[in-house]
Amino acid sequence: MCKGNDGKYFPAGQLQECLRTEKFARQVLWRQEIDSTNNWAKEYAGSRIWMEKGTDPDGTLFVAEKQTAGKGRQGRVWTSPPGENIYMSLLLWKPEIRALSASQLTLVMGLSVAQGMEALTGRKAGIKWPNDVVFSGKKICGILTEMRVQEGKPEYIVIGAGINVNQTEFPPELQDKAASVFLETGKKADRTLGIARVMECFEKNYRKFLRTEDLSLLKEDYESLLLNKDRQVRIIEKKGQWQGIARGINDQGELLVEDSYGNLKEILSGEVSVRGLYSYV
Ligand code: BTN
Repeated sequence: MCKGNDGKYFPAGQLQECLRTEKFARQVLWRQEIDSTNNWAKEYAGSRIWMEKGTDPDGTLFVAEKQTAGKGRQGRVWTSPPGENIYMSLLLWKPEIRALSASQLTLVMGLSVAQGMEALTGRKAGIKWPNDVVFSGKKICGILTEMRVQEGKPEYIVIGAGINVNQTEFPPELQDKAASVFLETGKKADRTLGIARVMECFEKNYRKFLRTEDLSLLKEDYESLLLNKDRQVRIIEKKGQWQGIARGINDQGELLVEDSYGNLKEILSGEVSVRGLYSYV
């Protein structure tokens, strides 16, 4: 029997009761306050680098109630107030993949959060490429992947996700692009169940990813949630901006954008930002 936690955080035992995974989040480390769950997971991994693959660190989930220095993509800050949201980082230990493929796991986690939020709320979440999870045109989740590489192979990968679950207000500068599960549904959601649903989806999707070491087996699911698909997008690069129509992703997770001459360009995430013409998506 899996009951809601009535807003209390963090009943790790209850998570174990609710969780239908084999490996992911079977070990959960929790703190009331930390600078960043990604930093914490990296320190933990760094101090155990001698341990074999398939041992304890693999699949460990780091969860905090509050982050004092939450990190976003492209050096941005991820504001992390206590009591409302999910801040978690999953540690993959010595995975048998090339470092070059690891960035695709950000998209795998984005897909898993979107699917997990649908399982939690019954409402369809969308994805803004590459990995923002969106309800009603506004972002509810961001993902940051970091890793340590040795001879072209990751020694570990940390995939951090910040999910706005029960946050009721956002600062004025974020109000047109940030939202929460609560603002979408009008109901407070159970964060422990949210973590469980996301971890289950991630485990299932990760297995598919490992079979080909790319997104070919996940592309259909991902594109079915991709809000940019067949819409006009603005590509913002260091050297300038241009517009096109997003057509989907390739097996490596690059965004395929048709330019004004009908040429399909492959956009690699990282340095580039993609926006809708009139709104955030
Ligand atoms: C983004 O900019 O969209 C990515 C945000 C990632 C935030 C999460 S919260 C948990 C983990 N710890 C961090 O410091 N960052 C990630």
